Amino acid sequence: MGKNVGNILQAAQQGGYAVGAFNIHNLEMFRAVTDAAAETHRPVYIQTTPGTVRFIGAGYLVALFKEALKQAQVPLILHLDHGDSVEIVKECLAAGYPSVMIDGSRLPYEENVALVREVVALARKQGAAVEAELGEVGGTEEKELPGSGSTSLTDPEQARSFVAETGVDSLAVAIGTAHGVYRGEPHLDLDRLDLIKSAVNVPLVLHGASGVPDRQLRDAISRGICKVNIATDLKLTWARELRRSLDEQPKETDPRKVLKPVIAAVKQLVQDKISLFRE
Ligand code: 13P
Repeated sequence: MGKNVGNILQAAQQGGYAVGAFNIHNLEMFRAVTDAAAETHRPVYIQTTPGTVRFIGAGYLVALFKEALKQAQVPLILHLDHGDSVEIVKECLAAGYPSVMIDGSRLPYEENVALVREVVALARKQGAAVEAELGEVGGTEEKELPGSGSTSLTDPEQARSFVAETGVDSLAVAIGTAHGVYRGEPHLDLDRLDLIKSAVNVPLVLHGASGVPDRQLRDAISRGICKVNIATDLKLTWARELRRSLDEQPKETDPRKVLKPVIAAVKQLVQDKISLFRE
């Protein structure tokens, strides 16, 4: 696995805490996340979906990432979240991403294994790390559709063979979370998490963490989750604060003045999550 990425996740695994992984969609959200990391002196993942890669461009994202690395003095990882094809993985690796996810969770087991093996071989050539998913976290990371929990939970024994057969560096598990806004309170299957944790030794990742009560998140972290993905909470905060800012300054047209309180609110949210994931 990429040396830095590996060190960061292994330190989390040994230390019993989780690294926050935050999905960004524009420069302001990028800055909110990296400033939060710098101020809390904690590493973070800056995550981009294929949609965000298309929206901003892999080259621009890597250029921003390199600049942030110079300034932050804290480990940062630029990560492709839910890569949905070998092509997007190749594009991100070629641009300089140190970490990618290939999501074959909707494929039959053998096809998921074959896809992940292919991506692991590509990533190894560049020393990049690979995350994959087994079982299916409900909803989609691109939409705020109501999530109703994982659609197919990770089988611990299958996780053992999946990790052995693919050589993947970290594993996203389906234990009851879903992407998007929950309809009711989610209930994580922590007994299943214990079984997965004893079956595999790679760091485990929790997707769909927006809206999961703090207590459940902390329990999941204490039982082996090393990376926690948050997207929807950032988008909700972003949209709510942008509306508020425009409403409160109806005559203001300067984007810098409109966006300043929005960036501050997203940064605060990220700082709160970072503190929750590692007390
Ligand atoms: P949420 O949108 O529920 O925070 O999920 C984020 C995620 O898992 C991104 O991969």
